[in-house]
Amino acid sequence: MSATKPNRLSSRFRITRVYMLTGAGFLGVCWFFMILAAESLSRGRWIDSYLLAAVHLFVIGYAMVVVHGAMLQIVPVAFQGRLYSIRLGYVQYALIVLGAVALPLGFLVHMWRITAVGGLLLILSTGFLLWNLGQTLRTLKKKAEALLIAAAFPFFFINVLLGVAMSLGRFPAGGNTLPLHMMSGIVGWFTTLIILISPRLMSFFVSSRYKGLRKSGPGILVLAGMAAVLAGEALEAGAGSAASEGISAAGWILYLVGYAWVLVDLYRHFRHRRRREVEWVLKWILGGLYGGWPVMAAWAIASSGSLQENWAASGLLLSLFGFLQWNISAYMAKILPFLRWMGRYGHHAAKDPSEQAPALHEMMPRKMTIAALTGSAAAAVLLALGTGLGRGALTVSGAAMGTAAWALYGLALTIMYRR
Ligand code: HEM
Repeated sequence: MSATKPNRLSSRFRITRVYMLTGAGFLGVCWFFMILAAESLSRGRWIDSYLLAAVHLFVIGYAMVVVHGAMLQIVPVAFQGRLYSIRLGYVQYALIVLGAVALPLGFLVHMWRITAVGGLLLILSTGFLLWNLGQTLRTLKKKAEALLIAAAFPFFFINVLLGVAMSLGRFPAGGNTLPLHMMSGIVGWFTTLIILISPRLMSFFVSSRYKGLRKSGPGILVLAGMAAVLAGEALEAGAGSAASEGISAAGWILYLVGYAWVLVDLYRHFRHRRRREVEWVLKWILGGLYGGWPVMAAWAIASSGSLQENWAASGLLLSLFGFLQWNISAYMAKILPFLRWMGRYGHHAAKDPSEQAPALHEMMPRKMTIAALTGSAAAAVLLALGTGLGRGALTVSGAAMGTAAWALYGLALTIMYRR
């Protein structure tokens, strides 16, 4: 008995590490293709194979792989229950990795059917994740909170179905198909998930006398807002009336109000925290969350069609490589050392307190991680400026800087692993 329990425990910590390290690997490949795509970006050639490959390696290979891996850990831990099946988690892993490879491969070899197959693999993988989390839900103490997070999944399915349709040369919402695809993926799926999960995670990481982080109001606003934005865009594709524009605009207002509400709640949570010190990495996560609001507001303006194409693309790059990358990497810098520490020292430290285990918050080298985070944000700004202004020198240096920041982040992870 006592031999199998720690084993099972450490395999629970291992599975998310496997996902996260794979995601970090895909991010490196993404930056490599970004270097090749940099020239096209500055010339406004959006449908470039390298660009499409880089974008999808980022959103699927990096962001989605890391987020799905995190969910297998966060849902049982933050909502208090037990993960249903680790084995299922690895089946889902195999499918998502195959999907993440097939998607860019299809773009690169100009066989978009391969991309479509990649999309189907992702649907299957997400189906397994939902089944696994659905079974886990039965054991959770905080079921309602967990269910709210599941409400973001339909936006991913809209995104992937539109992606598969476009790969097969079909555009169900006409000229609005690509904007709908991008918005449901970047804002509807990733940003919404970050907004929904962050209050739960922060109330788990930091104890506070403020209890407002657990309310569902802001989450519901954000979800309703996103549904309205997408409905407005879809209607516009059909009739193109002032009413559809109004629905989209109202949706954006709801979304941004819900997001701002979360930020105010986080501020109050930290103000009334029980311990004075705040772990350094949490400050960087908060920085990413606060910085995301103006980026989303810029998206709202860009999607109203009032910006030139190059500046709209510029905003898109800032949301992906600036906002999303920052948030995901900062959360990873918090979660991964914990998983590594628990896997390596957790049981021994409990059994034998004399064992010299490093302090958890010292596992990740602080300066190097901060340099990597700010470096990748600066890279995103360069990419965005180069795209907006049409300057190849800027996009190329942005891609080079992003690659260097990725290498630095990888080094920080390696050092953490050796501690
Ligand atoms: C969260 C996930 C996703 C996000 C955020 C996303 C985002 C994007 C973005 C930003 C573009 C424009 C890139 C450019 O102009 O160079 C794009 C294009 C495209 N995406 Fe995705 N994507 C996602 C998932 C998928 C999936 C799963 C598929 C599946 C097959 C897919 C298929 C496509 C296709 C075919 C295009 C090109 C459309 C065209 O040129 O007409 N995407 N996507």
